[in-house]
Amino acid sequence: MIFPVNIVGGGPGDPELLTLKAHRILTKETEVVVYDRLISPAILQLLPATVEKIYAGKEAGFHELSQDEINAALLKHAKRGKKVTRLKGGDPMIFGRGGEEIEYLFDHDIPFEVVPGITSAGGISAALGIPLTHRDLGSSVSFISGHKKKDQPLNLPWKELANPDVTLVIYMGLTSLPEISAQLIKAGLLPETAAAAIQDGTTEKQRYCFANIETLPKRITELEFKPPVLFVIGDVVKIAQKLNS
Ligand SMILES: C[S@@+](CC[C@H](N)C(=O)[O-])C[C@H]1O[C@@H](n2cnc3c(N)ncnc32)[C@H](O)[C@@H]1O
Repeated sequence: MIFPVNIVGGGPGDPELLTLKAHRILTKETEVVVYDRLISPAILQLLPATVEKIYAGKEAGFHELSQDEINAALLKHAKRGKKVTRLKGGDPMIFGRGGEEIEYLFDHDIPFEVVPGITSAGGISAALGIPLTHRDLGSSVSFISGHKKKDQPLNLPWKELANPDVTLVIYMGLTSLPEISAQLIKAGLLPETAAAAIQDGTTEKQRYCFANIETLPKRITELEFKPPVLFVIGDVVKIAQKLNS
């Protein structure tokens, strides 16, 4: 018998931010788990000791398993009749390659189910008190990837993004933040626009700082921020500055 492979969102780190469904699958319905680097130790501890744990890595610069190897591992264990869980940070469908994995499973006739997770933008903004939208300060929000291919500039619609009414949440942007800051200012965003950086959000190791879009790159270098880091840019950040002052 082939059980459906569960593609489960682990949320941003705090185990209490798992959905009930994710918690049930992890604690009762998993025999093999393939998990990413962003999965917090507190969540891994929920897995029974009998579960076979496969580390997929996914660190910028070096992957423990390539995407093909991850796909092959899911297929292999599903075909062995194991209850397989693919555990991913945040939400599997937001900058998580969930789309590639479900397409692969579909193409190989493996049933699957996607269990959403709280994406880091949602979990972290709640932890700090950043309203991602606000009647007066931000009428929409954009989730942006700052990941760039080696030696290539970021290909983003800077004019569209440099809108003071749009909150920007930048994933995977630690290396490219200086370029993001410069491009947004060049496209017309005021240098004094509020900005926040949050490392290891919602976990015991959480750190954050507030600055503006011009000063944030220098600030996070001084503070030696390390991945995973999320950036939020926009006037809504001023609310969190007030709450955390
Ligand atoms: C490959 S993306 C995965 C995003 C994930 N699928 C989600 O929905 O949050 C990895 C990026 O998410 C952000 N991230 C994830 N968890 C985080 C955390 N606990 N604290 C800060 N940033 C986090 C960072 O920007 C990191 O570089």
